[in-house]
Amino acid sequence: MPNITYIESSGQSTTLDIPPGWSLMQGATANGVDGIVGECGGSCACATCHCYVDEARLAELPAPGAGELAMLDNVAAERRPNSRLACQIKATAALEGLRITLPETQE
Ligand code: FES
Repeated sequence: MPNITYIESSGQSTTLDIPPGWSLMQGATANGVDGIVGECGGSCACATCHCYVDEARLAELPAPGAGELAMLDNVAAERRPNSRLACQIKATAALEGLRITLPETQE
């Protein structure tokens, strides 16, 4: 199971083993990581699972689809070049050790 680290805006860091195929949003909400809300349940319709992916590893992720790119226009916090929606990132072995930072607000 890939090991993913979530860093909240407070600086609190949580490292979790996420089952392959789960989204990084599911992994966070199932384990009480506060900085991700996931209001729409992962259907790419709420933008409350916004995260900043470690820039050094951004290119390793599948590119965002059109729906994700459109929804990123609706994030509550600053959108950055490394902004992604955690519900659209599936945990795979290739993401082992990935670190994502969570914005100050999701709503
Ligand atoms: S959980 Fe709603 S867009 Fe990701």
